[in-house]
Amino acid sequence: MQSDIQTAYRAAIDGITPYAPGKPIEEVARELGLDPTTIIKLASNENPLGPSPKALAAITAHLGDVRLYPDSDGYSLRHALAAHLGLDATQLIIGRGSDEIMHFLAVAYLEPGDEVVMGDPPFSMYEISTLTMGAVPVKVPLKEFAHDLPAMAAAVTPRTKVIYIANPHNPTGALNTRAEVDAFLAAVPPSVLVVLDEAYCEYVTRADYPRSLDYVREGRNVLVMRTFSKIYALAGLRVGYGICGRPDVLAALHQVREPFNVANLTQWAAIASLDDPEQVPRSIAANDAGKAYLYGQFARMGLPYVPTEANFILVDLKQPCKEVFGKLLREGVIVRTGDPFGYPTMIRVTIGTTAENTRFIGALEKVLG
Ligand SMILES: Cc1ncc(COP(=O)(O)O)c(C=O)c1O
Repeated sequence: MQSDIQTAYRAAIDGITPYAPGKPIEEVARELGLDPTTIIKLASNENPLGPSPKALAAITAHLGDVRLYPDSDGYSLRHALAAHLGLDATQLIIGRGSDEIMHFLAVAYLEPGDEVVMGDPPFSMYEISTLTMGAVPVKVPLKEFAHDLPAMAAAVTPRTKVIYIANPHNPTGALNTRAEVDAFLAAVPPSVLVVLDEAYCEYVTRADYPRSLDYVREGRNVLVMRTFSKIYALAGLRVGYGICGRPDVLAALHQVREPFNVANLTQWAAIASLDDPEQVPRSIAANDAGKAYLYGQFARMGLPYVPTEANFILVDLKQPCKEVFGKLLREGVIVRTGDPFGYPTMIRVTIGTTAENTRFIGALEKVLG
């Protein structure tokens, strides 16, 4: 019986290493016998300021709606986003996080043996969703922690269906410029869908960041992915979206979308977040201040780091990161180890509040001796 069940699984899923999330606070408290209220989590690039008060008010106001199925098509949220971005609501699809948009792409596009080009290390869901379909991740090493776009263009073959570019990239925080992306799009065959994953775009301060919505307006074979999980601090409600100027691409994604994929409270919270002009600048200001503090502390401690355009920093501890990670956990500080990404001496730390950043640096100094 057991073996019958095992052989029923698709062979394609054998090679998948499941997504490794940042350790939840409750889990660390349970495992180490710590008081959860004393633990800080700087492991999943969540916004330490929390959501807009308007989002919280919208959730409260709509609590009674949980009786009802959500608007399957996300009409109001798509229209609010369209107004916010200066696009048409038909150019948007909403998902249960941008992770679900990646899932739509995989299911709608990938036949076994198809190739998906991505950076190495990639954001891991690109690889997982590709392998799920029996398709082939083609991983192109990063260059100076950002995507090596000429090498990625050169990796395209007749089997390439999709290319993923996280910009800024996770786990590095590094960015590809507008000139680089323009040249890349000119080099890639128009039949290949280029996905620009902009989960952290609102944090970017550099003027040479690509204007990805222009690619959408030009009707290119480009899908931009964004999320409410990061700067809007709605990670727990799960909502992200895809933006595309090609009706055929969006129609394919909608064909594989479950009905009611984004919860109604989530949709209301997202709409209200867009209506708060303070949420983004407030979060950028806190992030920039935390970034400057952490850069200064890392420099003082002689720890090299990757300059970031996002809300996290990859820093080199110059010793095996797993041991430091374990010691930081015992200090009640959760970060992310670099070893799954191929950076065995680095950790990735989310930029927190002033108090969290100070606490992290104090703990780091203690455990590094
Ligand atoms: C680059 C990147 N893309 C996508 C996601 C997924 O975000 P969401 O919460 O919208 O599924 C993340 C989350 O960490 C990310 O870092």
